[in-house]
Amino acid sequence: MKKIAIFASGSGSNAENIIRHFASNNQISVDSVFCNVADAYVLTRAQKYHIPTFVFDKKELIDPDRLLKQLQERQIDFIVLAGFLWLMPPHITNAYTRRIINIHPALLPNYGGKGMYGMKVHEAVIAAGEKESGITIHYIDEHYDKGTVIFQARCDISQADDPESLAQKIHALEYEYFPKVIEETINKF
Ligand code: GAR
Repeated sequence: MKKIAIFASGSGSNAENIIRHFASNNQISVDSVFCNVADAYVLTRAQKYHIPTFVFDKKELIDPDRLLKQLQERQIDFIVLAGFLWLMPPHITNAYTRRIINIHPALLPNYGGKGMYGMKVHEAVIAAGEKESGITIHYIDEHYDKGTVIFQARCDISQADDPESLAQKIHALEYEYFPKVIEETINKF
């Protein structure tokens, strides 16, 4: 059994969708959810499915003897970032080369980098008058939004779209593709 740890910082609708996707898979399982925000809704979502949750702070993340150790003790094979907003430190990216998968709500390399997350991305895309946006699923390295792209999907932006309606279109793409792409990526490893 390959074990996934999901890292998330917010609502966790993608995390929940991934948990549901793998609930019936007997080769890949979601082992746990790691969260850096004590009252994030993702924790409630994970608990609903009896998935263990862990809240951590920056010290634990950057100390090689703490969070990484915990992941290794739990025998985590893959890390999935589903709306996780901190940069992964090098000791974790090195220990999990090509085994950390992130989703970004735009077509990287555009609209990525530090501070570009969630609604901020959609606001920037709409403000720039883009005619399309999409999702990027990519490996994580020690830089924001720079790892090798695994998959992209696109959606049109109409005159009537605003950041909220674009967010809905992007979430629909995320729910459709992210679990499948995670599964394919793990199976290919
Ligand atoms: C998702 O749209 C994800 O792509 C984005 O945060 C949202 C989390 O939603 N991630 C980033 O912006 C990373 N830079 P969720 O908590 O409902 O899954």
